[in-house]
Amino acid sequence: MKKVWKSLSLFLVVTLLAGMLAACNSGEQVGDSGASDSGVSVGIVLPTKDEPRWVQDEQRFKDALADSDYTTEILFSQGSSAKEKENVETLISKGIKVLIIAPHDGAAAGAAVEAAKQEGITVIAYDRLITETDAVDYYVTFDSIAVGMAQAQYLVDNAQGTNVPLYLYAGAASDNNAFLFFEGAWSVLQPKIADGTFVIANSSEAVTLQDKAELSRDEMGKILGQVTTNWDPSEAINKAQTHLTAVSEDMKGSVAILAPNDGTARSIADTFVSDNVITDFTITGQDAEKASIQYIIDGKQSMTVFKDVRTLVKDAMGMAIDILDGNTPETTGSYNNGKTDVKAKQTDVIVVEQENVKMELIDSEYYEASEFTGL
Ligand code: BGC
Repeated sequence: MKKVWKSLSLFLVVTLLAGMLAACNSGEQVGDSGASDSGVSVGIVLPTKDEPRWVQDEQRFKDALADSDYTTEILFSQGSSAKEKENVETLISKGIKVLIIAPHDGAAAGAAVEAAKQEGITVIAYDRLITETDAVDYYVTFDSIAVGMAQAQYLVDNAQGTNVPLYLYAGAASDNNAFLFFEGAWSVLQPKIADGTFVIANSSEAVTLQDKAELSRDEMGKILGQVTTNWDPSEAINKAQTHLTAVSEDMKGSVAILAPNDGTARSIADTFVSDNVITDFTITGQDAEKASIQYIIDGKQSMTVFKDVRTLVKDAMGMAIDILDGNTPETTGSYNNGKTDVKAKQTDVIVVEQENVKMELIDSEYYEASEFTGL
């Protein structure tokens, strides 16, 4: 009897072990060289759930990974570099081989990715560059200079006459993209300020620099210091209100507004609409957020820059899979992050306004027509 129990328990242990091994392997079919024994092979860290832009990225990652064998985990940092570091540590402990990360604060994220690098993890900066560190291997991004240029070109194309008051707004100075967007916008706006098409309404620093075609990062930093929204719609409202209170009436009427993204654009637009001396305005945006697409259909926001997140997700995951399979990812250029040149893959952007909203966003199946009214 004892003997029977012994062989039975041995049988059970062997069966259990075999089962565990099979369970481990089934989630990890990432190719021979890339297979890890851990739970998660690719870790994804996104900056905040408070902005639709990043919730959209999460969804697009989930859609892209629905039928995949790769094991991934997505964590949000909720606008905190400390939380971000914690997230990266959690993913390191789960055995990730590749980290895809859109930092909350590009410089502060250095410590988190350095910790990953020490564990031999390959780091891919996603949409936002991580600065001042050599612990970032790749960067997948949209052409952010082109985003700013497209926003500015839209304002130029819609400006009527001369001395059009120009309100400048920017993203958070902790986000490298905010500088790239502004740099692109300035390259198009500056000649039009110089030739008298626009008059800067809300930044004394920008007025001081208005004769300079190219600005240094420090110079842009000074302007951003006055007109940053910090990517926060409430801060955008406060700034817009303060500016409208401060300016004289000749800085009102028909105006142009450089708004850095959709979340801030809607807030700024709502604020300008409620000023009786503003007769009309052209306002830019970015991200093709659903709420802003409705604003564009309704004529409350002039344009947005559509960044097809499906492509960014595809590129980031494509890179991760190459790395897991032991191949070298394809890149198309590089970005200097203040410490090193980071190899990058860049994607183009599309300007969306009332005329092409249906073609670019509905016909391309990015959104469904039923999500909007008045299309
Ligand atoms: C992204 C934008 C986004 C902004 C605020 C930028 O880094 O490129 O798409 O609107 O951050 O989250």
